[in-house]
Amino acid sequence: MDGNGRWAKKRLLPRAMGHKKGVEAVRNLVRSLRGTGIEALTLYAFSTENWGRPADEIADLTALMKHFIRSDLDEIAEAGVRLNIIGDHSAFDEEAVALIEGAIARTADNREVVLTIALNYGSQAEIVRAARAAAAEGEVTEEAIARHLDTADLPPLDLLIRTSGELRLSNFLLWQAAYAELYFTDVLWPDFKPEHLRQAIEHFSGRERRYGGR
Ligand code: IPE
Ligand code: MG
Repeated sequence: MDGNGRWAKKRLLPRAMGHKKGVEAVRNLVRSLRGTGIEALTLYAFSTENWGRPADEIADLTALMKHFIRSDLDEIAEAGVRLNIIGDHSAFDEEAVALIEGAIARTADNREVVLTIALNYGSQAEIVRAARAAAAEGEVTEEAIARHLDTADLPPLDLLIRTSGELRLSNFLLWQAAYAELYFTDVLWPDFKPEHLRQAIEHFSGRERRYGGR
């Protein structure tokens, strides 16, 4: 989810407004998943590198996350969404951690769709952790590493979307993206509508995936 800052700047608004609009885009997107057959949606909300942002912006993002859980958890839980986190969310403040863990527990038995939020997540560190865990168990194989990734219980990554015109993965799901289709759009995250997801999926459906075969 990239482009919140640029969305705000274009409108001469504070960055926080871009993040707020970004949360609305998340809400609308999650609501639109029903009946689409999408099993899993993973959103990169906060990277390990994002700690380098000014303290007030980190505070705004944390506050928005807490507010989102408080305002939307009922709806999410009732829609059959299972909330899942990748990354180390324990780095956020105590109140945020409690809200996150409460939301995970409350939705644990939901099966409609799994909504994963990447929080304090970085893919290279994740791969190192997984490789170490595999080594501690014995053999370091692709299968053993995959089993120790934060995403071990998620379906394979099919489609990876990056918004706002950047052509980079920025340390997101690097291992998992090995065979994923990559989709880049200039749309800024706050403007990303269910319609844009539909377009991305349509594009994905038209691509032939060969997994190295021919
Ligand atoms: C993405 O928007 C939101 C988070 C990283 C939480 P940015 O804040 O990166 O927006 P730009 O890149 O400045 O437009
Ligand atoms: Mg950015």
